Amino acid sequence: MQSQESFLTLRNHLQQTIVGQQALLDRLLIALLTGGHILLEGPPGLAKTKAVNTLASGVHASFQRIQFTPDLMPGDLTGSEVYDPNKGEFNFVSGPIFHEIILADEINRAPPKVQSALLEAMQEHQVTVGGVTRPLPDLFIVMATQNPLEQSGTYPLPEAQLDRFLLHVVLSYPTADEELLILQRDRDEHFGSDKSSENPTIETALVLQARREVAEIHVEDILEKYIIQLVGATRDLASIEESWGEFLVAGASPRASIALLRASSALAYIQGREFVIPEDIVAMAPDVLRHRLILNHSARAAGIDADAIIQKIIDFIPVP
Ligand SMILES: Nc1ncnc2c1ncn2[C@@H]1O[C@H](COP(=O)(O)OP(=O)(O)O)[C@@H](O)[C@H]1O
Ligand SMILES: [Mg+2]
Repeated sequence: MQSQESFLTLRNHLQQTIVGQQALLDRLLIALLTGGHILLEGPPGLAKTKAVNTLASGVHASFQRIQFTPDLMPGDLTGSEVYDPNKGEFNFVSGPIFHEIILADEINRAPPKVQSALLEAMQEHQVTVGGVTRPLPDLFIVMATQNPLEQSGTYPLPEAQLDRFLLHVVLSYPTADEELLILQRDRDEHFGSDKSSENPTIETALVLQARREVAEIHVEDILEKYIIQLVGATRDLASIEESWGEFLVAGASPRASIALLRASSALAYIQGREFVIPEDIVAMAPDVLRHRLILNHSARAAGIDADAIIQKIIDFIPVP
């Protein structure tokens, strides 16, 4: 596991810049290590943008931040054919999506057409404009942020397309002690004594190698079965709690099982292990499943959300 050490260094660097938010930092690394896209949700001011910027600064890859706004058009993302009057022909001018690491910032502020263009690129790993299909880079990964859905002037992401994201991470406020440290770090950054200025950087080739190493992390058969049981339970809620059967519009697909296996392997990797343990799966299940469990209005009326259901599933199914 040659690359493992470099990622532990990168994790350290992230911890020196971002106070707390350990789960967030681990999940950013997990996304990078699996090539899975990640959706970060939380109110403004919790360092979502800053965390992604810090991660990107630690990787020697092309990075592009795209601020999503209500007036953004799909072509602003993908690029478009532009007429060149000198040559009398159309040339493709590539848009900001053609980079290795994309920060899609405040993704739910853009209208559905733009969101679809992004989600399509995430799924297909390519972009089609004017009948021509162009591949995206090998490393290509989207780290998106969104404000909680209750906020006005936002467009909820299409539920059926949310499972393009490997992980959906929900952030919470720091503790009072953490917030004191945040103040201190902010002062340090503005007034010189910044200890985190030497960035370690990881080459793209090393990230790709690490992805192969993560794919080789050992997972016992019994743990694969455990994953299938957890994901399967989201399709049969009545088996967990009789009255929940009627809440379900759609459960998680096999894509979720694959995602849970990959995310658990990457968590094992950044913890310096060469094999998955049940705790990895339990830790990753909420962020892998949260956005893939589609519930109807009666669930909301009964005060039941995806997180409550996932927790119950984890408690219900015996850990091997
Ligand atoms: N956990 C944290 N660690 C370090 N700085 C933080 C943290 N939480 C908030 N901040 C501070 O708050 C500011 C806002 O962060 P930002 O990334 O813009 O938030 P968001 O994208 O979530 O709205 C940052 O500049 C940073 O100084
Ligand atoms: Mg932000």
